[in-house]
Amino acid sequence: TPDAAPAAIQGVATPASAPAADAVEHPSDVVAFVERIAALTTPDRIHWVDGSTRERHQLLQRLVAAGTLTQLNPDIRPYSFLARSDERDVARVEERTFICSENEDDAGPTNNWMAPEQMRAELEPLFAGSMRGRTLYVVPFAMGPIGSSMTRYGVQLTDSPYVVVSMGTMTRMGSAALAQIARGASWVPAVHSVGAPLEHGQRDVAWPCNETKYIAHFPETREIWSFGSAYGGNAILAKKAFALRIASAMARDEGWLAEHMLLIKVTSPAGKVYHMAAAFPSACGKTNLAMLTPTTPGWTVETIGDDIAWLHIGKDGRLRAINPEAGFFGVAPGTGLSTNRTAVETLWGNTIFTNVALREDGDVWWEGLTETPPARLTDWRGEEWTPASGRPAAHPNSRFTVAAHQAPSIADTWDDPEGVVIDAIIFGGRRRALAPLVVEARDWDHGVFMGATISSEQTAAAEGTVGALRRDPFAMLPFAGYNMADYFAHWLDFGKRLRRSARVPRVFQVNWFRKSADGKFLWPGFGENGRVIEWMVARLESEACVDETPLGGVPREGELNVDGLTLSDADLAELFRMDADELEAEADDVERFFQTFGEKLPAELRHQLSHLRSRIRAQ
Ligand code: PEP
Ligand code: MN
Ligand code: NA
Repeated sequence: TPDAAPAAIQGVATPASAPAADAVEHPSDVVAFVERIAALTTPDRIHWVDGSTRERHQLLQRLVAAGTLTQLNPDIRPYSFLARSDERDVARVEERTFICSENEDDAGPTNNWMAPEQMRAELEPLFAGSMRGRTLYVVPFAMGPIGSSMTRYGVQLTDSPYVVVSMGTMTRMGSAALAQIARGASWVPAVHSVGAPLEHGQRDVAWPCNETKYIAHFPETREIWSFGSAYGGNAILAKKAFALRIASAMARDEGWLAEHMLLIKVTSPAGKVYHMAAAFPSACGKTNLAMLTPTTPGWTVETIGDDIAWLHIGKDGRLRAINPEAGFFGVAPGTGLSTNRTAVETLWGNTIFTNVALREDGDVWWEGLTETPPARLTDWRGEEWTPASGRPAAHPNSRFTVAAHQAPSIADTWDDPEGVVIDAIIFGGRRRALAPLVVEARDWDHGVFMGATISSEQTAAAEGTVGALRRDPFAMLPFAGYNMADYFAHWLDFGKRLRRSARVPRVFQVNWFRKSADGKFLWPGFGENGRVIEWMVARLESEACVDETPLGGVPREGELNVDGLTLSDADLAELFRMDADELEAEADDVERFFQTFGEKLPAELRHQLSHLRSRIRAQ
């Protein structure tokens, strides 16, 4: 059982980090919540998580004893662990993710909806007794630096110690957050059960979960209920469920933005500092851009966040952003020394890997970590693997969970409670054709149109057909907690408020994934993407010009720095080529997409589409 005698963790001392937590008063509203859920789920034990290093160590020991985690070779990868999930619990389950607003219209056409009362009736019998034989962990957490005005708090109840240690990396978890709640900070309740009660004497499995899954959000009462999965996005509820779905509804009501965006700090050779926020659909290179090492001399990019940004208009009237998280839950495959050396260095130790492959020397491997795979591995399912096996060794959605401060690229301002001032917003997708390498929006409203029409060929981050094109507005399709058309309106309105108060950030769209007719990527990507950032900075400084195209402003010839790249003039031209028929087809597709929102679509977006059509005709 998960509470069996702890196994010794080999060879390494507990990493020096958080000291033992102070005892904090248990706020009565949290106690009432815990009692109510314990009465429903009937756990054997209740454990209030303090977030201390000692507690983490004990949880890791229990997870090793239970077979959920395997310790990696401590001489190679200190204090690191491998989890192999159930084969049927490897990704977010969008089909089972629901927004339970009173009115269906408030969930909108892009979300699964169920009436709150009906969902409660579905969940009640599932959660009844669901924690039998297990421990209910009470997990207080802060999203954002403790005490920042932008920070929001939550309490997750879970019967998964794997989720607890993951929350410990991804959030500011434990006594410090609980102390803020005790002092009166409002908090979001989140209930999570793997849905695998243990009868007396029943042996546990390494990765308990349930075939029935629900990830349910109640935006009006600001609650989260998750059942049946222990996988990241379904179970680490602080992340997608709270910091995006519930927070987006809070942000709409309170006048800020909760976004699926990375945050970077850019320093030019002149020493000037800029901050950029960028939205990309899942598994389109967000973590790579967040950890970019520019190839051009004198430029540096530092990391503030790799997945979620909360944007507020500060007291100074400027657009300010924080990364509400404290760690990275990144996709492992494709992360290698040649593509993202910084990420590889971040993972030197203190890391939990999920569904990667195990090497014979007790270290990990995944596709793309090294060019040549090891001769023999244990694959993510625990089966023997060789390069001749003809299947991936690591699951395509295998992950690493690691503290943000371990990134050598982390900016010293990454946890500044005041946030950082945003100079530019970037939207990106994954398109083999049409979308140019980079294009600048004409103004904020045009930028909102760009965000609203992000499209991407689907990746493995969610269940679905890999390769199929889907519209993923603001990369928030799976994460908006309310009607997407209202969300567009909120962005338009936010721009009006910004215009009244201060400098409005510029908006750009990028596409690193354009292919030639023979199917090769035209742009080298990765570190070379710094050249595109460099051009954006030149635009911010009014040192570069654009050529107007139907889609927006593209770099004037000679202004994108391609010195030293082996990129033919023909390929460079192809990166920006716009075919009139393809543009017409795109406008038609956007129109069909917009129609799904009916009357609710803001008129401004309809205008943007007709402006696009007239620019195509005038071309
Ligand atoms: C996740 O799936 O848990 C997750 C972090 O989402 P994403 O697909 O955006 O990486
Ligand atoms: Mn994400
Ligand atoms: Na995912």
